[in-house]
Amino acid sequence: MTRVNDGITINKTYIKNRLTMAPTVKFDYAGPDGKVTDKHVEHYRKRAEHGCGLICVEATAVTPGGRFGRNHMGLWDDEQIEGHKRIVEACHDNGAAVIIQLNHAGINANPELGETVGPSAVPTRDGEPARELTIDEIYDLQDKFVSAAVRAKEAGYDGVQLHGCHSYLINQFMSKTTNQRTDEYGGGYENRARFGAEIISKIRKECGDDFLISIRTAGIEPDVTTAISLAEEFVKAGCDYLQVSTGIDWEDDSLSEEELKKQGRPYNTVCELGVRFHEHFKGRVPVSCVNGINTPEIARYLIENDLVDTVDLGRAVLADPAFCEAVLEDKPYVKCLGCPRCQYGPGMPHKCPAKQKQ
Ligand SMILES: Cc1cc2nc3c(=O)[nH]c(=O)nc-3n(C[C@H](O)[C@H](O)[C@H](O)COP(=O)(O)O)c2cc1C
Repeated sequence: MTRVNDGITINKTYIKNRLTMAPTVKFDYAGPDGKVTDKHVEHYRKRAEHGCGLICVEATAVTPGGRFGRNHMGLWDDEQIEGHKRIVEACHDNGAAVIIQLNHAGINANPELGETVGPSAVPTRDGEPARELTIDEIYDLQDKFVSAAVRAKEAGYDGVQLHGCHSYLINQFMSKTTNQRTDEYGGGYENRARFGAEIISKIRKECGDDFLISIRTAGIEPDVTTAISLAEEFVKAGCDYLQVSTGIDWEDDSLSEEELKKQGRPYNTVCELGVRFHEHFKGRVPVSCVNGINTPEIARYLIENDLVDTVDLGRAVLADPAFCEAVLEDKPYVKCLGCPRCQYGPGMPHKCPAKQKQ
């Protein structure tokens, strides 16, 4: 039986246990220049010191206009590399592997930062129409992801993760709702996966065989079967590791909390997406699940029952940087209350019991 303390090697990167820190943006840490701050370095150092096997650094913009906020970490400029070296060092010095999530927000980018573009001219979050990208612009944006990956490699990251879920650009290409193109980037699932898949092959070419390439992909788009077909395209292109979360369209009634409860499964339907992906990709590509894994018991259940290869921990390790030690060594921990502040940023009410531990 696999245990949470067991190591795993993904591509050439050794990860000392099955616990991954999920990418979680620190909304108030970066300035408008997108550079890493001391706060970022200490934030990740603390999670690495307390046992996370793999840290996936937060969504990091590949262009200034692709940010979803005005202040948002970036890797669009060589000047930003130095700061990332400090995050990498803080993680590696404490025994954690570290990858960074690369993102462009597409139609959900902050309109104050420039024209809002996406796969198709569909309304943005603010109800304004976005402009459809031309083919040349698609190539240019793919190159921006690749350049950011090359900078990530130079900073010392073990790999990168493409942000392919939660309604951002790669996910917008994957969804039929936001991608209404009739060229080779729209239509069937192979075409809708093409934008992300080509980025993966280009990164592989530029960063080499040993560089870990992951995608955080939509586990349902609009159903699990199609989402798996989309992910197969990413795997064909050279993706080493799938983290599974939510996408844009959810049209699958077979997933219900009641059913999971009936089966005695102590996790939620978003985690179940990762479990279904693991069933499909088992033995070929490691799969991680996320969402609501906020007790040591849930984390252990998922790993010990071979339901996934790794578990992503988001708010649990934000609320208590030492949560991994609770999972690995049965130490006491402070439980996340799920208040809206950390998800939706300053200004929201919060009661985080572990604020002083951050
Ligand atoms: C403060 C905050 C920031 C987040 N930032 C990101 C991000 O940068 N990239 C991403 O893919 N998901 C992001 N998420 C989603 C989390 O990675 C995770 O999927 C979600 O919080 C559910 O997992 P949890 O219940 O363990 O927190 C964020 C969530 C929170 C709370």
